[in-house]
Amino acid sequence: MLGGVDLIATEMVSARSFVELDSRGRDYPSRLWGVKDEPRPICVQIWDNDPHSLAVCARRLALDFKVTTIDLNFGCPAKQIAGRSAGGSFLLQYPDRIGDIVHETVKAAGHVPVTVKIRLGRTRDTINAVDVAQAVENAGAAGLTVHGRTAADMYSGQADWEEIARIKPHLKKIPLIGNGDIRTVDDALFRLRNFPVDGIMIGRGGIDRPWLFRQIRQALDGKPVDPEPTAKEIHELILKHYELMKRQFDAKVVLILLRKTVCHYTLGKPGARKFRNDLCTAPNEAAFFRLLDDFFEAIPVFPKQG
Ligand SMILES: Cc1cc2nc3c(=O)[nH]c(=O)nc-3n(C[C@H](O)[C@H](O)[C@H](O)COP(=O)(O)O)c2cc1C
Repeated sequence: MLGGVDLIATEMVSARSFVELDSRGRDYPSRLWGVKDEPRPICVQIWDNDPHSLAVCARRLALDFKVTTIDLNFGCPAKQIAGRSAGGSFLLQYPDRIGDIVHETVKAAGHVPVTVKIRLGRTRDTINAVDVAQAVENAGAAGLTVHGRTAADMYSGQADWEEIARIKPHLKKIPLIGNGDIRTVDDALFRLRNFPVDGIMIGRGGIDRPWLFRQIRQALDGKPVDPEPTAKEIHELILKHYELMKRQFDAKVVLILLRKTVCHYTLGKPGARKFRNDLCTAPNEAAFFRLLDDFFEAIPVFPKQG
């Protein structure tokens, strides 16, 4: 049911935390858990405003973690990142600084390609993705992903794919990947056919429906597209998720994380709202799994979704 992704990336890792932990001989940031053993290709995304930390981190990721690619985040609008830490989308207002960071990281990463993720700009009035894209390309990046919102937009409104398209003629060497609001196979095909992008990146759509990647791959290959998974298949997927989470987290944390996963996988399903409320108040693991069994056994087949 799963599969179909050409490249998967970790959530962004703070280069400074990485370097600090590393210099004290401690463990790595938790987002790197399992990265050494995961199948390739794999991308690790890192963020910071300090070229030195990013360079040290990139070198270690290339040599010790043997990642396939490294992605630099200049798109995150969250306060913790773009506020006091002056990272992520904060840097979009300084294309030259981004260029310097990319240059240093590319040098440090050696044979491992370095790509970049941005938003359109800081605000709708200061969209400068073309300037940033050129700085990124000139500094030696191997690719650029653009989320079609500004930092000020956060996640409101629609991703602006016309603005993403405007960047394409300004890139001479590197691929442009479009990102934002791809939730279905049709969304993916529409964006790929109607906008001058070399690829697409999917975030939230893949969290809600991780089988979407496989369906898109099938459509692109001209094969029949799998129907939406049945209740039984989703139930099995949740249990698989549970087993995998247990390898990494304590039992209590697993249940909290699993609740989130179940909420995503059952969005819009009949009776799901009450079920999710019940799950949140389940007193223990046994009650949690009983609720899960009851919910999925009561619904033999989920309605199809496009
Ligand atoms: C909970 C959450 C965490 C995210 N974390 C990251 C991240 O670590 N790095 C990143 O580049 N984008 C991150 N994003 C943004 C997504 O990658 C993506 O750019 C954005 O959600 C728009 O695309 P979508 O409509 O396909 O989700 C995150 C988004 C959400 C909702």
